[in-house]
Amino acid sequence: MSAHAMAASPTGIASIGLHFPSLSMAVEELAQLRGQDPDKYTIGLGCEEMSICPPDTSVVELATEAARRALDRWGGSADRIGMIAVGTETAVDMSRPLSAWVADHLGLKGAIRSYEVKHACYGGTLAVRQAAEWRMSGAAGDQAALVVAADVAMYEEGDPGEPTQGAGGVAMLIDEPRIARIEPISYPWSEPHFDFWRPVGESYPRVDGQLSLDCYKRAAENCFKAMIGKRDPEAVLHELAAICFHVPFPKMVRKAFYRVGEFLDLNAERIDGFFQEKIYPTMLWNRLCGNAYTASLWISVAQALKGLAAGERVAAFSYGSGFGAELMMLEAGPEAAAGAWEQDVARDLAGRERIDAKGYSELRGAKS
Ligand code: HMG
Repeated sequence: MSAHAMAASPTGIASIGLHFPSLSMAVEELAQLRGQDPDKYTIGLGCEEMSICPPDTSVVELATEAARRALDRWGGSADRIGMIAVGTETAVDMSRPLSAWVADHLGLKGAIRSYEVKHACYGGTLAVRQAAEWRMSGAAGDQAALVVAADVAMYEEGDPGEPTQGAGGVAMLIDEPRIARIEPISYPWSEPHFDFWRPVGESYPRVDGQLSLDCYKRAAENCFKAMIGKRDPEAVLHELAAICFHVPFPKMVRKAFYRVGEFLDLNAERIDGFFQEKIYPTMLWNRLCGNAYTASLWISVAQALKGLAAGERVAAFSYGSGFGAELMMLEAGPEAAAGAWEQDVARDLAGRERIDAKGYSELRGAKS
């Protein structure tokens, strides 16, 4: 192979597409159905609304439509796509990857490495890292990767996780860093635990709730500790325009950032200040769609990048049960300011049909 073919390519996010299903329900409706105080869901967990799939929508439609929108915005030629990597934990087949459904619907075939990535909610981030490192290594040449993170998060009826449900898909072209440059160094942390898992053949996850909270917080602490190193923590956090997290439910992010802040010796006032300024605003769309597993972090990143000036930096913390975590650093590019992907959110999230407790029960009945 020539030295030219192995040259590292400037790498980052060149386009973003999002897609959400057409139904939503306020968590207060679920509280009424389950005989719970609505404040437990809205204040205790920080949840607002959940995106819900109608019977004709599955993870295939979420992933495919998000990818279609990202490709339309990218404007590149399909023959430059050398990789399709789809992160999901809503697999529709044990063998055939979700990427094959996406490729089929979008007419993509040829000299393409196409596959599915599984590591609970961390799968989408792994797909992004693999695509980015493929380009950074020089092995991609001038080729781009289509990366998709899509999931439908459903719990058994009456499960404590039910108010955190959601669904959505995010797709990104990993190519020239027009929207954001992906920094080559990232900060992973993993430990093997059964905090949240779904045995083969079962429809809903099993969860050790308290353990899952502890694992998430420990992962965040270790990733931020590695990223900050010996530098002044306040200075490092201060220079970030936004800090994005995987959002299983908004209160989890607050708990995790408190743990990070305490570890860094920040007082409660400073932790609150950073949380309100740099974290809470990034969860605007997450609060409206619920946990979309692999897509959750990237929905937050899409919200955070929108409107940034070139050069502003964003931290992105990914967590997937099992568990694996990684903190990535991004730097806004020239097309972040325009935030073209916001129109997907305006079209889908704002345009959803709201269902009530009765409609939700009927839908669940229809699905079981
Ligand atoms: P729970 O039974 O609702 O827990 O389950 P709780 O009784 O501890 O209540 C939750 C909070 O509401 C508490 O707040 C209560 O005090 C408060 P805290 O003390 O923790 O700050 N509360 C109230 N607040 C106001 N008014 C009231 C009231 N009553 C209680 N009246 C749990 C909560 C998170 C365990 C459950 O929702 C669950 O199992 N969720 C799924 C697991 C999860 O999301 N874990 C998060 C970390 S793991 C992760 O992120 C990975 C994941 O995305 C999957 C993947 O990777 O694939 C989930």
